[in-house]
Amino acid sequence: MPLKDKKIGVIGSGNMGEALIGGLVNSKSSVPDDIICSDVRKNKLKKIRETYGIRTTTSNADVIKRSEVIVYAVKPQIIKSIFEETAPYLDMSKLVISIAAGVSIPFIEEAFKKEVRVIRVMPNIAAFVREAATAIASGTHAEKNDIRIAQSIFNSVGKTVVVEEDLMDAVTGLSGSGPAFVFSFIEALVEGGVYMGLSHDTAISLAIQTVYGAAKMALTTQQHPAVLRDKVTSPGGTSSHGLAELEKHGFKFTVIRAVEQATMRSKELGKRK
Ligand SMILES: NC(=O)c1ccc[n+]([C@@H]2O[C@H](COP(=O)([O-])OP(=O)(O)OC[C@H]3O[C@@H](n4cnc5c(N)ncnc54)[C@H](OP(=O)(O)O)[C@@H]3O)[C@@H](O)[C@H]2O)c1
Repeated sequence: MPLKDKKIGVIGSGNMGEALIGGLVNSKSSVPDDIICSDVRKNKLKKIRETYGIRTTTSNADVIKRSEVIVYAVKPQIIKSIFEETAPYLDMSKLVISIAAGVSIPFIEEAFKKEVRVIRVMPNIAAFVREAATAIASGTHAEKNDIRIAQSIFNSVGKTVVVEEDLMDAVTGLSGSGPAFVFSFIEALVEGGVYMGLSHDTAISLAIQTVYGAAKMALTTQQHPAVLRDKVTSPGGTSSHGLAELEKHGFKFTVIRAVEQATMRSKELGKRK
């Protein structure tokens, strides 16, 4: 249990900060007493304190002083100033985890202007329902066990993979942007169902359950999607006719290009930091 008795600090109690605190507490990976969170918004802190029973403060320095692992969950635009503000309270006894999209490890390490154990993490929006797909990359001074600590934290809101930092833009293109692609696919299924005469309510509930069920099948059987697709496509049947139409319009190629474009955009935004 890498998190047992670990003091965890979260800077920023917004969407991600709260999802993470909820995951840690609800999965019992951490006890509320071991978690402290800071934010500039007192009303958010009050809500989070009342909901999860954790400690809260308006001082980021307090979070660092009282924690062994600190998750920086603030917007990328302001994260540099928060790295600089908190640097004096950090040393090699503490682990820093940044979830800021597009903020690279060299950028983070440079902002602290001293040796710090850094881990960069890219979760996705499904952290809200504890089904995030999260990638984790190790910084220059991170220790072996630090990856395991980060995995334990983010496994409380979904599943994690470990990647080299130079693949983080590709991660952003796939799992960071992927939920938007999937929502768009669900929307298209609904429109198709309605076009063919189903009521909107019926189409939406069938479309969502279909995507959820297919994902769960891929997850539980661990079979390649092509094998599963082959299994449900009988010769001359309905699925084969539908699939042929998708391919006629370059479905897979379009999705590949969507991931590529999202990856390129992530690289571009990262350069502006
Ligand atoms: N949301 C996602 O799906 C997602 C996915 C992957 C990665 N991320 C990354 O996660 C990070 C957080 O995103 P989010 O969506 O959770 O943002 P958010 O909802 O805006 O949360 C950030 C919180 O930090 C507060 N804050 C602002 N300045 C602060 C300061 N100086 N000290 C302490 N707290 C401060 C903000 O208050 P104000 O509202 O007053 O500014 C807000 O409550 C971002 O870097 C983002 O790139 C998010």
